Amino acid sequence: MHIAKVVDFVETPTPSLVMEYFPLGNLEDQNREWPITMEETLDLLFQCLVALNYLHLRNVGHRDLKPANLLVEGRNPLSVKLADFGLAKVETAKSHMKSFVGTLQYCAPEVYLGKRYTPSVDLWALGVIVLEYAYGLLAEARGRRRMDNDQCVSMKKRGAAWCQCLVDEANDWDLDPLIDLLTVAMLRIDPEERLPAGQCLKKGAIWSFSMGTTLTQEVPYRQSKWIGKVGSVIMTTLRLSYWRLFGANQRLPMRKVVE
Ligand SMILES: Nc1ncnc2c1ncn2[C@@H]1O[C@H](COP(=O)(O)OP(=O)(O)OP(=O)(O)O)[C@@H](O)[C@H]1O
Ligand SMILES: [Mg+2]
Repeated sequence: MHIAKVVDFVETPTPSLVMEYFPLGNLEDQNREWPITMEETLDLLFQCLVALNYLHLRNVGHRDLKPANLLVEGRNPLSVKLADFGLAKVETAKSHMKSFVGTLQYCAPEVYLGKRYTPSVDLWALGVIVLEYAYGLLAEARGRRRMDNDQCVSMKKRGAAWCQCLVDEANDWDLDPLIDLLTVAMLRIDPEERLPAGQCLKKGAIWSFSMGTTLTQEVPYRQSKWIGKVGSVIMTTLRLSYWRLFGANQRLPMRKVVE
């Protein structure tokens, strides 16, 4: 499971949760030291979808998914664990999500607009992370300050415009199975149009198959549940597509469509 484990709880001197330790730190720092490759981005996408599927089936929204909250267990191959559940919330019939929380760059449009939202905000954030590592992002989006209440009024509009800008950016890229997955299933302005994490995994598999790729290498993931198997197939086929077209370990191999 790609979720960081709590291994102990201590009450003194200060009540604290003790987590497993990841010497490689978080994904943002790792990317600065050694940029995340396209192949690693696909691993990251798969692992986060599996983690989100687990959480969302239990009505838990993480609400602050970003590279700094993904701890790196290893590189080559990349293994990440979702951490920092400080803003996580369980959605129930009586308890809805509406507060403006998260990190600007990864906030979903409905959060900016102050609407009620669901754990599907995590799918948006994951889409932005993948867009960032696989295709790059506009420089002005890199503000990572947490929102202050008195900034909300002007930031709402700017935020919504920024989200639209991300969608337009994604739709501008040349056709490939990864950008298809992002634009059709994750980076949707209307949260109702975002697919649940489990369906993103399934959808990715179908699209990869339709590209005519075949499984020629051993499936690298060993999850026992069907979702692990489906995810493995997606990632292997996506990876094969990229290897075939661009060679392994290349970053930003895509071209933007020029009208
Ligand atoms: N178990 C761990 N193993 C290794 N590094 C960790 C671990 N937990 C946290 N860190 C490091 O500390 C950073 C901050 O941790 P965390 O996100 O849990 O705290 P935070 O106070 O909520 O920070 P922020 O508000 O920036 O999200 C992480 O990005 C990571 O670099
Ligand atoms: Mg954090």
